[in-house]
Amino acid sequence: MTTFDLDLDDIQSGALHERPSPYVGTYVLLRIDDRRAGRELVRRLHPIVDSARPSSDPARDAWITLAFTYQGLKALGVPQGSLDSFSPEFRQGMAARATELGDVGESSPVNWEKPLGSPDVHVALAALSPDAARLGAVLERARRAQGELPGVEVIWRQDCYQLPTGRTSFGFKDGISQPEVEGSGVPASNPGEKPIKAGEFILSYPDETGSLPAMPTPEVLGRNGTYIVFRKLHTRVAAYRRYLRAKASSQEEEVLLGAKMVGRWQSGAPLGLSPERDDPELGADRHRNNNFLYRDDLRGFKCPAGAHARRANPRDALDHEMSVDVRLHRMIRRSTSYGPALPEGVLEDDGADRGIIFVFAGAHLKRQFEFVKTQWLNDGIFIGAPAEKDPFVGASDGSGMFTIPQRPIRRRMQNLPRFVVTRGGEYCFAPGLRALRWLGALET
Ligand code: HEM
Repeated sequence: MTTFDLDLDDIQSGALHERPSPYVGTYVLLRIDDRRAGRELVRRLHPIVDSARPSSDPARDAWITLAFTYQGLKALGVPQGSLDSFSPEFRQGMAARATELGDVGESSPVNWEKPLGSPDVHVALAALSPDAARLGAVLERARRAQGELPGVEVIWRQDCYQLPTGRTSFGFKDGISQPEVEGSGVPASNPGEKPIKAGEFILSYPDETGSLPAMPTPEVLGRNGTYIVFRKLHTRVAAYRRYLRAKASSQEEEVLLGAKMVGRWQSGAPLGLSPERDDPELGADRHRNNNFLYRDDLRGFKCPAGAHARRANPRDALDHEMSVDVRLHRMIRRSTSYGPALPEGVLEDDGADRGIIFVFAGAHLKRQFEFVKTQWLNDGIFIGAPAEKDPFVGASDGSGMFTIPQRPIRRRMQNLPRFVVTRGGEYCFAPGLRALRWLGALET
């Protein structure tokens, strides 16, 4: 193994493993009241946490990811010197970053679902599988690991599953575009993007700046770890549909405006490749549906610069204007859907909780997740429209605006309300498997 070969046997599978489609899953949060019990939990869970090494065993299609908050590492008794070596954002936790992230008003931590954002959240466990039977089996193993361990409490649980349409609650296919992690063996989804250095996602490898990302100490704890962000994001599907209905004069126009806001049609077909109409065949073709750049559309006539996906990854669109290296702001997304679909055509809210569990994996909370959220989704300076936020997921307050470049005159969509409300979340650290063993063996 050369120094930069990815240690797939040690990295947890969650970040590098594409989620199955369809999928079912569960997120569980636990509180550690007794550090010895917490370590025993880690020891018991260690054998059922999978590595990222590809396997042909179908049972390995169901996997568990295990991650800890700063408070969780503290509750396990990780020495203070080591706790201090983690990134400042991780140490603060997501709730403390709320103002920067745009989690204000309805999305502010005082309104979060309990216990999200509280110091009680210590351990986050995610189980994902292609079907309920395999999920049940893997969860049963986790339950047995936790069962009869006084001093460790399950405090929150959230099920997720792919909707029958294969889309998210707003009706769009998601999870299409992912960076290729150099050395992971997972092929690129966009052949126009060179593989991204592994150190952008997994600690202890060189990153895009050519250096090793800051690593938590001791080395055994940081090596092969990844920061994870999870956010429960409630989606206001009825409000979104009503907004489009009010702004459009036909159903076709509703669909077009919705696509302009996202940057893709509902099928997943990108506007950059199919600007006039949806092309479900293109949307379903994984060899083509992410094979595009923006260099022939710098003015955004096909895909507006303010569209969600273009903001979140402007690809080559900024090369010409400013020295922003988009490669420093990439992220792996492993988001899932929760809650029932709002039936087609319904415009009134039915009161059900639905949305996505947004999951990020990367080595840099600040320059990846937080940068994209604050500078690209919640601000418009970088596209020359300081008054505009992401029309789809931005922290709008009813006065939001979205510009659609078109000839002869651009179109402005006004009074955008908030379609996505943060229900809570946390910054976590998913250690490598050796690090898990180290955590389980902590003494004192
Ligand atoms: C409820 C909230 C959200 C919904 C419904 C949503 C939906 C989508 C959809 C439909 C796409 C296009 C499909 C794809 O390229 O995979 C997309 C792309 C993307 N989203 Fe989101 N998203 C949400 C929140 C976020 C947040 C909070 C971030 C980051 C902080 C984010 C980052 C991205 C990125 C990086 C892409 C890929 C862009 C590309 O490479 O072309 N999304 N999202």
